[in-house]
Amino acid sequence: MTRTAIRGGLVVTAAEETYADVLIEDGRIVALAASDAPSASGSWAVERTIDARGKYVLPGGVDAHTHMEMPFGGTYAADTFETGTRAAAWGGTTTIVDFAIQSRGKALREGLDAWHAKAEGNCAIDYAFHMILSDVNESSLKEMDLLVDEGVTSFKQFMAYPGVFYSDDGQILRAMQRAASNGGLIMMHAENGIAIDVLVEQALAEGRTDPRVHGEVRKTLLEAEATHRAIQLARVAGAPLYVVHVSAEEAVAELAAARHKGLPVFGETCPQYLFLSTDDLDRPDFEGAKYVCSTPLRPREHQAALWKGLRTDELQVVSTDHCPFCFTGQKELGRGDFSKIPNGMPGVENRMDLLHQAVVDGHISRRRWIDIACAAPARMFGLYPKKGTIAPGADADVVVYDPAAEQTLSAETHHMDVDYSAYEGRRIRGRVETVLSRGEVVLDQREFTGRAGHGSYVPRATCQYLG
Ligand code: URP
Ligand code: ZN
Ligand code: ZN
Ligand code: ZN
Repeated sequence: MTRTAIRGGLVVTAAEETYADVLIEDGRIVALAASDAPSASGSWAVERTIDARGKYVLPGGVDAHTHMEMPFGGTYAADTFETGTRAAAWGGTTTIVDFAIQSRGKALREGLDAWHAKAEGNCAIDYAFHMILSDVNESSLKEMDLLVDEGVTSFKQFMAYPGVFYSDDGQILRAMQRAASNGGLIMMHAENGIAIDVLVEQALAEGRTDPRVHGEVRKTLLEAEATHRAIQLARVAGAPLYVVHVSAEEAVAELAAARHKGLPVFGETCPQYLFLSTDDLDRPDFEGAKYVCSTPLRPREHQAALWKGLRTDELQVVSTDHCPFCFTGQKELGRGDFSKIPNGMPGVENRMDLLHQAVVDGHISRRRWIDIACAAPARMFGLYPKKGTIAPGADADVVVYDPAAEQTLSAETHHMDVDYSAYEGRRIRGRVETVLSRGEVVLDQREFTGRAGHGSYVPRATCQYLG
């Protein structure tokens, strides 16, 4: 039995903030005691004490949207499960939910097995899987039931990327009907990919090939239209819906209207939409390619609607959609044709810090920070209260965070295996100091002490926002 105490910090959860000492035993949190009642925690016999005075004590981050080693556009996302989960730990994230992919014409099981093989023995922190449905048919619909039973309880479909991951409305409706009966949650990439492909073809024919055109053809209206359509299809199926990587104000409005009707509709946004904009896609010398992702970055005016959505619960979750491609050799595949730039951006290491900066800047409260980054994603994807909070019985996934430290984000100092930072030079107030994953110190005052293979696969319950 190993016992650790974290003493004197401000424990922040989605529900409350209290100065408390935290007792950890065999990988779990077993007790909290108010710091001003030292008689309670003074009797704890521990092997190790972590001094958190002047620091925050936070639940480890839950990043519910990552793509380690994802195949896309003839290449693979640059972070492996090993490098990507190590970078996540550096950034205070202790659980990722990555996307296993069903290949067209293949079984869900084959895709899931392949993703287990990539992750097993390689992760520094705990991990779980969603399943991407690329081929909805009788047998894959049946397999959805089996996956829900074994802890893969959410399924992503794409209204974008015709010929690759795309599902038509009939396939979406069928999968939603299945989710309505088996308790699964459909996660939607909501962009009208058929219309977008027409605009892509027209743009290229006109000689418009720069990265910025990626943002011009993937119009906000086509995100809003797809979001609206996904919501209506979910209503017809009687299924809940989670819309991923929401970027446009008009799409937030669709989610808000559905939620005001009382529908079980949820939304996620990502740091890139909160902190970056089409100004970045517009950078000269093909630098804009670093900022190509889908949904695309939007004009800066959209950010206010995203922040408001996060404050008012029109949006519930901030995940990264971490899908890094190096500028050299990968993003460069799209020189002369923006449609060949691999879609995706790095960020798994930066999410907790960027959102803390949002607390400093007054966009969200400290507790809302922990809600959108830890508790809500854990609840949404059936991991709560094992993950996402600090409470007796929870896994001891804990971050000691120094709110007064200052840092500058940079590719020179980050740990993601990608040759640029989307936030190069950005000053951040606050920094992760120490991280525990199931009671093991994996980052010790900014020295990495974790190891590949410490992280375990976590089977999930169904969405905990539903009755
Ligand atoms: O550009 C992105 N988001 N790449 C990853 C795949 C996806 O659509 O989430
Ligand atoms: Zn997507
Ligand atoms: Zn994604
Ligand atoms: Zn590289």
